[in-house]
Amino acid sequence: MDLYEYQARDVFASHGVPVLAGTVADTPEEVRAAAESLGGRVVVKAQVKTGGRGKAGGVKLAQDPVQARERAEAILGLDIKGHVTRRVLVTEASDIAEEYYFSFLLDRANRTFLAMASAEGGVEIEQLAVERPEALARVPVDPLVGVDEAAAVEIVTRAGFPEAIRQRAAEVVVRLWETFVAEDATLVEVNPLVRDPQDRIVALDGKVTLDDNAGFRHPGHAQLVDVQAEDPLEAKAKAKDLNYVKLDGQVGIIGNGAGLVMSTLDVVAYAGQRHGGVRPANFLDIGGGASAEVMAAGLDVILGDPAVKSVFVNVFGGITACDAVATGIVEALRILGDEAAKPLVVRLDGNNVEQGRAILAEANHPLVTLVDTMDNAADKAAELAAAGA
Ligand SMILES: Nc1ncnc2c1ncn2[C@@H]1O[C@H](COP(=O)(O)OP(=O)(O)OP(=O)(O)O)[C@@H](O)[C@H]1O
Ligand SMILES: [Mg+2]
Repeated sequence: MDLYEYQARDVFASHGVPVLAGTVADTPEEVRAAAESLGGRVVVKAQVKTGGRGKAGGVKLAQDPVQARERAEAILGLDIKGHVTRRVLVTEASDIAEEYYFSFLLDRANRTFLAMASAEGGVEIEQLAVERPEALARVPVDPLVGVDEAAAVEIVTRAGFPEAIRQRAAEVVVRLWETFVAEDATLVEVNPLVRDPQDRIVALDGKVTLDDNAGFRHPGHAQLVDVQAEDPLEAKAKAKDLNYVKLDGQVGIIGNGAGLVMSTLDVVAYAGQRHGGVRPANFLDIGGGASAEVMAAGLDVILGDPAVKSVFVNVFGGITACDAVATGIVEALRILGDEAAKPLVVRLDGNNVEQGRAILAEANHPLVTLVDTMDNAADKAAELAAAGA
């Protein structure tokens, strides 16, 4: 999960990383009031989960509360790379002597953590990395050793931070490492990390990505989720603990096992080419031990997607045998009743497949078509989706 800047700022503050005073606001009037309590001269910053806000006109200095209000009027509603600004952060304006770049991130390719730092911050770091890679220090961090003050000094020295503020910057870097570890982040980025005229080091911007897989260790992280911005179907699936990803097609997909579901997406996309270009509407893996309740929950989410015109249930019976899955499907359709109003194509194979097929044949549900092979089932599901579209 990516955090908004204001959330990253709160997280930084809670770990002792110096940040500027600030308040979030949703309306121009709130911005005016916030500017007044912050002393008048402020920066109004669009809160969107994308980079390059400044360039897009989403970061503006205001000299007084009235101007802050005007800035807010221009920024609220602003579309930045497809992200509409609904909220701004109002922070005190800082006097900046120098801008640096600093980040900790998970370096997947090298199976380690990485510190990246540059004495030339503020600008687009991707550009710097390409044009002048020597200006960007990359220092691997052993997760078992971490970053103490000596290591932090080493990093900022390699990055060319001026001698006068190295020690102070290193103290902030240690705090950023503590933030990275304590919050189970995969990215903590500060661009710019600034030096003010009094040689104080302050995080002026913050980008934090939290590792959702570690969410169970952080009950507090749940409140950082922006419920409004979430896809409603994905939110519903998440509430039911389902492994669901919304896609943009018309054929709903349910399978057991991520590999099977991935290949189901492929065969459906392929079959769809023969039927007007219909495509998979989602990824949904109901896992190995899928009960009737899980099947019902999965069907409920998929059938609730207005884009879905047919559903392909593709199950390979293993630990949970086909008869149990078939019973689950019949039971799920009973639970959903009239809400199940779209055709279902079911392909069962594997453990107890004959019994499973017999159960579905016996139930003889008007919406269910049983097809023996994956390719034929995909074709049928695509055909039904095209007919219903
Ligand atoms: N509180 C502040 N006081 C003074 N100047 C600021 C303040 N906040 C930001 N700035 C200036 O605006 C520039 C851009 O701000 P910031 O880094 O927050 O946004 P951005 O880099 O455009 O956004 P993103 O990081 O999403 O690409 C900074 O490099 C800094 O020069
Ligand atoms: Mg920035």
